[in-house]
Amino acid sequence: MKMTGNTILITGGTSGIGRALAEALHARGNRVIVTGRRQSLLDEITAGQPDLHGMLLDLADPTSLSHVTADIRLHFPELNVLVANAGISRAEDMTSDSWDASDAEAIVETNILGVLRITAALLPTLKRQADATIVATSSNLAFVPRADFPAYCASKAFLHSWLQSLRHQLRNMPVEVLELAPPYVQTELTSVDQASDPRAMPVNAFVKEVMQLLEQQEHPRGEVLVERDQARRWAERDGSYGAIFAAMNPA
Ligand SMILES: NC(=O)c1ccc[n+]([C@@H]2O[C@H](COP(=O)([O-])OP(=O)(O)OC[C@H]3O[C@@H](n4cnc5c(N)ncnc54)[C@H](OP(=O)(O)O)[C@@H]3O)[C@@H](O)[C@H]2O)c1
Repeated sequence: MKMTGNTILITGGTSGIGRALAEALHARGNRVIVTGRRQSLLDEITAGQPDLHGMLLDLADPTSLSHVTADIRLHFPELNVLVANAGISRAEDMTSDSWDASDAEAIVETNILGVLRITAALLPTLKRQADATIVATSSNLAFVPRADFPAYCASKAFLHSWLQSLRHQLRNMPVEVLELAPPYVQTELTSVDQASDPRAMPVNAFVKEVMQLLEQQEHPRGEVLVERDQARRWAERDGSYGAIFAAMNPA
């Protein structure tokens, strides 16, 4: 991915990893369109910032997605980078009689269908550019699951597989496909407490490492993996899967 002079749309850009990525990419001389459902945050992020734009987008709402798609075609036909980052996470207790599939359905809707829908909507624009990139945010929980977040981990494993197929299908087009698989990062993804959990990586440190990997094109197989990701990514190969699973999921 070239690091400057791009026009980039980021989903889930109103907070956490998406916001930090949007600001880091903007600071490197890119036009960035931040999207999300919270207008007040879009206003706050873009205020007084030339080339930082906000667009309301709810990935679960087809009308919202078609408005954004039309706006992009009209106002930003040069769009050459999509960062499909929006996601939600919920714990689920499948032993409870009150457990139903509603949380899993919401996770599938946002984390899986949201990525597929925005990619399908913008791929025709991306394919027309000389140099385009699709980045999607999975998770290192794609590689070893936390059993208390079953649908969340499975949604990220879906993306890990799906992105390999997308990358292969686009191999003869100038559209690079990257998977960003964060470790545990200090954001409010699961709760406000996560944002100050000392076990989680500070979001600015994570994004700094990601920017370095992108700049140095250090993403073998299209996987952008920070140092903290390595043990889980290679757990099966290294024979440590059982031990890592047990440590993450105490009996
Ligand atoms: N933090 C971690 O430990 C961690 C680890 C691995 C992977 N990840 C992944 O990183 C990505 C970003 O998460 P984060 O940690 O930065 O959490 P976050 O701060 O909660 O960010 C999630 C973003 O997704 C957006 N979003 C949620 N539902 C949406 C919908 N229906 N339509 C459009 N946008 C929606 C939210 O914006 P609005 O509320 O404004 O819509 C928000 O900007 C997610 O895909 C997450 O799974 C995070």
